[in-house]
Amino acid sequence: MRSFFKLAVFSFLILVPTGAFPLSGLDSGGSKTRRDVPCITDQQYPHGSICCSYCPAGTHVKSPCTSSAEKASCEECEYGTFTEHPNGLNQCFKCTQCRPDQEMVRPCTPTQDTECRCKSGQFCAPDEACEVCKKCSRCGTDEVIVRNCTSTSNTECKKIQTSPGSASADLAAIVLPCVAVVFIALMIFAYCMRSRATDCLRNLLSGQKSEQEEEFVRLVPVNGEESLKRCFHYFEDIDISHYKRFFRHLGINDNEIRSRPMDSYEDNIHDLLNIWVEREGREASLNDLLKALLDLNQRRTAETIMEKAVQDGHYVRES
Ligand SMILES: *[C@@H]1O[C@H](CO)[C@@H](O)[C@H](O)[C@H]1NC(C)=O
Repeated sequence: MRSFFKLAVFSFLILVPTGAFPLSGLDSGGSKTRRDVPCITDQQYPHGSICCSYCPAGTHVKSPCTSSAEKASCEECEYGTFTEHPNGLNQCFKCTQCRPDQEMVRPCTPTQDTECRCKSGQFCAPDEACEVCKKCSRCGTDEVIVRNCTSTSNTECKKIQTSPGSASADLAAIVLPCVAVVFIALMIFAYCMRSRATDCLRNLLSGQKSEQEEEFVRLVPVNGEESLKRCFHYFEDIDISHYKRFFRHLGINDNEIRSRPMDSYEDNIHDLLNIWVEREGREASLNDLLKALLDLNQRRTAETIMEKAVQDGHYVRES
């Protein structure tokens, strides 16, 4: 029983200061009296047990009222002081002095404090205590100004974003040359597949092929078609690996080329040349056969045949 009492007292002492027990009787009597004075908010202020009317903005209380609701004796704010609102203050506030890093926007009046702002190129955010003006930021080279600096806000920058349009332009700048290079490579490859690779590369590097073709002298037959036929055996020198391509190039169809037995290579050449001559008729010319060889990069063979045709007196060089 005694220990229970002790615990109760102990709890009371611990818990009362924390406010766990609502003990209204312990509230201080003084503040209760003041709070109960029915002063009108924003118009009156309590003075002792009475309410005095506020002094108007630009003035301060010189001496308080003596009876409730009576106006206090007010006095104008001295030079360099102000009160912005109706008040029960005994003295006016001191006007703010603009700092060296600020400039005055409006001088102090009895009802309004001095208005200062940061000088150009500096700013103070209005929601921060402005002890010094901060320097305005500069946007980076990869940024654009979204908003200029003002006395109350810093410069706003935005990273220059590559727009979808210019992004595709960038892409095109990379892709197009690649496509061009691939295309040219394919053209070279296709060209080299058609002719012998070494000749092809040599020609490509020297860039002389077309010139040489143009330089190639035309031959004139001494004895018409007979001259041409007498030259057929020169074509037996055509490399066997090129002979099919040669006749294909002349427009002889594959079946005709393949149907011939491989053991009579010379005969095949004669036969196929005859087929070609029959088909071409009067148009058939040794020049076309030589041209076909040149087209297949068989320049040496063509030159040899030409020389033989001239040496043997079947053809003369066109002058
Ligand atoms: C910032 O100020 C400069 C010069 O005063 C002006 O040319 C520019 O247009 C302004 N920029 C913005 C985003 O207001």
